Amino acid sequence: MAPDQRAEPRGWAGPEIRIRDVALSYEGRNGRVQALADCSLTIPGGAFACLVGPSGCGKSTLLDIVADLARADTGLIEIDATPSGAPARLAVVFQRPALFPWKTVAGNIVFGLRTHGMPKAEAQRRADAFISLVGLDGFAHAYPHELSGGMAQRVGIARALALEPDVLLMDEPFAAVDAQNRALLQEELLRITAYAGKTVLFVTHDVSEAVYLGDVVFVMSGRPGRIIRTVTPSAAERDRSSGGFARITAEIFDLLAHRKPSTADLGVSA
Ligand SMILES: Nc1ncnc2c1ncn2[C@@H]1O[C@H](COP(=O)(O)OP(=O)(O)OP(=O)(O)O)[C@@H](O)[C@H]1O
Ligand SMILES: [Mg+2]
Repeated sequence: MAPDQRAEPRGWAGPEIRIRDVALSYEGRNGRVQALADCSLTIPGGAFACLVGPSGCGKSTLLDIVADLARADTGLIEIDATPSGAPARLAVVFQRPALFPWKTVAGNIVFGLRTHGMPKAEAQRRADAFISLVGLDGFAHAYPHELSGGMAQRVGIARALALEPDVLLMDEPFAAVDAQNRALLQEELLRITAYAGKTVLFVTHDVSEAVYLGDVVFVMSGRPGRIIRTVTPSAAERDRSSGGFARITAEIFDLLAHRKPSTADLGVSA
């Protein structure tokens, strides 16, 4: 699917996410590590936002804070409620898929749905549909130890998508997925998120993936991570064969190349 063929969001686009002046430090063995400082960004409702930045700059930490799995030292996270007034439903695809080893592929997905109160038969039907969507037909009854890294990652993606969340947080979801499945999953993800009204925050190391998928691309500095550039590629610029695509990816590469963590921003104090 070419970017300009993306479906327009229908009805409610999804919640807006606002991150304001977030800072978080970890107490490490060698002192305090400032992971994030003055980190601010806004994702419009229904937008597909990509986050790129050097390794260790705090991308996963930021996702954890948005998912309420970690508490910022300072700053604010605001996620709009749904039109009914209910809090937005949120799902996370973790950098490491963290599957229950004693549950099958289907069992892992059904478990997530059942904890949200879905009846068993419906959960099983939905698990089957999303197993198929991520290309794992025939593996519903396999256990995690029988899967490759890329297959396990796809189970994590299916588990999150099956929840039909309003907010989807994805931490390098395709990193271990082979090129062919990656291309298929990128298209599916664009289709699902555009039609179903979801706001997405998608972390990737792959700059061209970010420019292809992102309505907006946030570029982070080295640690302590903060947003140093916000890029909003047009539909024409998301076309991988266009000059605009090449120019934007080159600009982001350049920014990242000049923002490698230096001793000045290691943020380690005794
Ligand atoms: N639980 C923790 N305890 C102590 N330090 C941590 C913890 N989690 C992360 N850090 C540190 O915080 C910084 C940011 O880590 P984070 O995992 O958010 O980076 P990242 O941008 O996701 O990196 P990558 O691209 O390699 O996944 C790193 O210096 C890391 O060592
Ligand atoms: Mg990470």
